Amino acid sequence: MIPLDTLRARYLEGIRAAADEAALEELRLAALGKKGEVALLMRELGKMSPEERQTIGKSLNELKDEIDALLRARKAAFADAALDERLKAEWLDVTLPGRPRRMGTIHPVSQVMEECSAIFADMGFRVAEGPQIETDWYNFDALNIAPEHPARQEHDTFFMHRAEGDARPPHVLRTHTSPVQIRAMLDQGAPIRVIAPGRVYRMDMDQTHTPMFHQIEGMAIDRDISMANLKWVLEEFFSAYFGTKVKTRFRASHFPFTEPSAEVDIQCSWVGGQLKVGEGDGWLEVLGSGMMHPKVLQAGGIDPNEWQGFAFGMGIDRMAMLKYGIPDLRAFFESDLRWLRHYGFGALDAPSIHAG
Ligand code: DAH
Repeated sequence: MIPLDTLRARYLEGIRAAADEAALEELRLAALGKKGEVALLMRELGKMSPEERQTIGKSLNELKDEIDALLRARKAAFADAALDERLKAEWLDVTLPGRPRRMGTIHPVSQVMEECSAIFADMGFRVAEGPQIETDWYNFDALNIAPEHPARQEHDTFFMHRAEGDARPPHVLRTHTSPVQIRAMLDQGAPIRVIAPGRVYRMDMDQTHTPMFHQIEGMAIDRDISMANLKWVLEEFFSAYFGTKVKTRFRASHFPFTEPSAEVDIQCSWVGGQLKVGEGDGWLEVLGSGMMHPKVLQAGGIDPNEWQGFAFGMGIDRMAMLKYGIPDLRAFFESDLRWLRHYGFGALDAPSIHAG
C-alpha cells in the first residue's frame, strides 16, 4: 500500500498547481472518484485487522476530507477569478452621455406652441381648446359677425358639406381660434384667463398663406381689465419669447368682436435684408386685439355690466418664422425630411421661460 503521506502530498500539490477547473475535476476523479486511489484504499480496509482498520480508516477519511476541502476552495477561487475577468471585460460607464438616435424632430410649430403656452402659463393663463370643425354660430354669430357681415366673406371659409334636409346647424372649418373664447366663457365663466393655440383654415394659398395654419388666441376677463393690462401682457410675452425687450405699437383697427380694437406691431430693424426683433425703428404687424365686445361676453354667458376683458389673436407660424429665421411658410407643411431635420427640435429641447 502507498504510504498515505505520499498520496496526500501528491494530491494536495497537484490541486494547488491545477491550472483550471478541468484539471481539478481530473484530480477529483483520480483521488475520490469511484475508482479513485482513495476509494480503492477504502476498499482494502475490509482485509485489515480491526485495529488497523480503525487507525487507517480514520486517516483515510481525514485525507478524503482534506482533498475534498482543498478541491472546493480551489474551485471557488477559479469561479471568483472568472467573475472578476468578466466584470472587467463587461465594465460599463453608466455616467457616459447617451448615444443620441435620430427619431424624428419636433416641428417648429409644435415647439413654438409649447414656448407660448409656457410663457402665458407663467402669467396665469390656462390652455383652452375647441373643435376644428365648428358650427357657424361659434365661429361667427357668437363673435358678433352677423350673416351679412363682410368679415364672413373675408374669411374665405371652408363650409362642411350638408345633405339635403340636414337639421343640424351648418358647420365650417374654424377660420380662427376666436370661437374658443366663447367655449371657454360658457365652460368656465368669469373671471378667466386662457390662451387657445390651434389649427385654423382659410381658402388661401400663396407664399405667405396656406389653407391650414395656426393661431393662438388669448383672453382675460375680470372686473376691471383694461387695454393697459393687454399692452403689459403682450410686451411681457414678446420680450420672453424673443429673449429681448420688445416694444409694441397699438394702431386703431376694427374687429367685430372687440371695441375698441387694435392691431399690434412689434419693434424691429431691417439691416442688410435681415430682420431683427426688439431693436431699430421699424414696426412689424403681428396680431389683432381689443377689448371684448359686450355682445361677445353675452354670447359667452357673461354679464358685460359686471365684467370686461381683452382678447387677442396671433399667427403662430409667423412667430416661428420670425424667431427661427424660417423664410417660406409653405415649407412648414410639405413634410420634407431635410427641412424637418434642419428646422426641427430635439425631443429634449424642452421650452422653458429662460431658454425659450
Ligand atoms: N380672429 C382674428 C383673425 O383671425 C384675430 C383676432 C383679432 C383675435 C382681434 C382676437 C381679437 O381675439 O381681439 O384675424
